[in-house]
Amino acid sequence: MNFNSARTSSESLLRGASRLGAIALAAILLAGCGGGASGGAGGGQATEDQLYLIKFPHVTAPGTPKGQAAQRFKELAEARFPGRVAVEVYPSSQLMNDDDSLEALAFGEIQMIAVSLSKYDRLTHSYQVFDLPFLFPNIEAVEAFQASTAGRQILTELTDRGFLGLAFWHNGMKQLSGPRALRVPQDAAGLKFRIQESDVLQAQFLAIGGSPQKMDLGEVYQALQTGTVDAQENTWSNIYSSKFYEVQPYITESNHGYIGYLVAVNPQFWQSLPDDMRAGLEEIIAEVTVWGNARAEEINQRDKANIVASGRSEIIELTPAELTAWQEAMRPVWDQFSGDIGADLIEAAIAARPQAAMQH
Ligand code: SIN
Repeated sequence: MNFNSARTSSESLLRGASRLGAIALAAILLAGCGGGASGGAGGGQATEDQLYLIKFPHVTAPGTPKGQAAQRFKELAEARFPGRVAVEVYPSSQLMNDDDSLEALAFGEIQMIAVSLSKYDRLTHSYQVFDLPFLFPNIEAVEAFQASTAGRQILTELTDRGFLGLAFWHNGMKQLSGPRALRVPQDAAGLKFRIQESDVLQAQFLAIGGSPQKMDLGEVYQALQTGTVDAQENTWSNIYSSKFYEVQPYITESNHGYIGYLVAVNPQFWQSLPDDMRAGLEEIIAEVTVWGNARAEEINQRDKANIVASGRSEIIELTPAELTAWQEAMRPVWDQFSGDIGADLIEAAIAARPQAAMQH
């Protein structure tokens, strides 16, 4: 059975299936087909002059932490394997949104993604740990957890479902933006918050009396502009590059959560690569991860400064008492999800916090 027939014969099934069912089904069908992801001329018997195409769509702008890392991966991969590897990076949802890219990767229609960890919600409960409000006081704490034994274990836990995790890339810490100053949780009551596809984020905004609505990143600007939603949470780099600051007069520097990415490839495609190429690309991904993660915070601070300079949004800095009020209001979400996520994984995240962060 080739890939095309796998897709065609499954389409009627997919129409009636949930997104989770569709993605899981894709992985099962492709595993049963013994592959199917060709990546253009790739797959099957490798020859010296074979060109392997890696399509890498994502949803953020080229200047964001993910946009820059994706572009650097392309440049290094093509320079190291001239004429053998071509990487097509499609930023800003140009090719597809995140939901579609999860399905397309599992089907082998694209070869690489870096989708926000929040959006794997339907495939694993483990990554919900990254959405727990105020679990990670800063990026250093996230980095320490991802480098821990528990963090390294969850990197590859979706391989059987069609997502071979190769790295975690950072974006940054999330801030809250809205039509009014959000100084204490009560200020958020009644506001419609756009959220990523995540049940933890839904619970987080319900906990403060908000009305959460799941929506693709590419639709948020217009939704804020037209009042379909009132407010949102995101990193400085996404708020700046997606121009949310133009339509959100207040941004609270809450640092209440994290946005990061699972860099994943289609496992059958990856196995179809010649050994030297697979090893070389994995080295490049490791190098780009160090490079990109070291720059992510700098890019976010640059974009915070850009927003301040625009004069379009007022930045709200919280007092220690206000910060505590947000932490206490959102904290019940931990208990709500600790059964699904696993108390041990949450403990591992707490244990990995650098000493300085614990005093935070
Ligand atoms: C991303 O940073 O890739 C997406 C975040 C979002 O959907 O808000």
